[in-house]
Amino acid sequence: MEKLQITLNINGKDQALLVQPNDTLLEVLRDELDLTGSKESCSEGICGSCTIQMDGKPVRSCLTLAMEAQGTKIKTVEGLANGDELSNLQQSFIDHGAVQCGICTPGMLMSADALLSETLNPDDTTIRQALSGNICRCTGYSKIVEAVAHAGKPEKSCPDCQTKE
Ligand code: FES
Ligand code: FES
Repeated sequence: MEKLQITLNINGKDQALLVQPNDTLLEVLRDELDLTGSKESCSEGICGSCTIQMDGKPVRSCLTLAMEAQGTKIKTVEGLANGDELSNLQQSFIDHGAVQCGICTPGMLMSADALLSETLNPDDTTIRQALSGNICRCTGYSKIVEAVAHAGKPEKSCPDCQTKE
């Protein structure tokens, strides 16, 4: 199949790429750009492990063609940290024990980051709705919801982790 030249804006940088028309965004991120934070699990749009953001909205990159992403601003989990400094959300996942095997974590983070960019201090119901497309097989969700709630608090404090701050 003939390859096509496209440009994708990923984590603030334009990337020139040669892709096949049926290449998914997830394939291009992982295989062409070595951005392997986004995980491939179901490949069918069910699990959410491949979630990235396009123009600030959570999107399943396994169901998105790379060509469709042209002209958008793509953010992957690699775009959350500032160099070696984790974002508040990432640190909160660690502090609250919200990571076990880690396969769901990048997708959870991207859905949660999109929520927090629009909603300060979301309640548990809002957090669970925002994460409803992200399946975790390990944690039971409570720790993940706690981690997102903490990261969304203006004063960044909660009873579970006061001793760590
Ligand atoms: S790998 Fe994309 S939704 Fe499961
Ligand atoms: S931490 Fe294992 S699937 Fe969520």
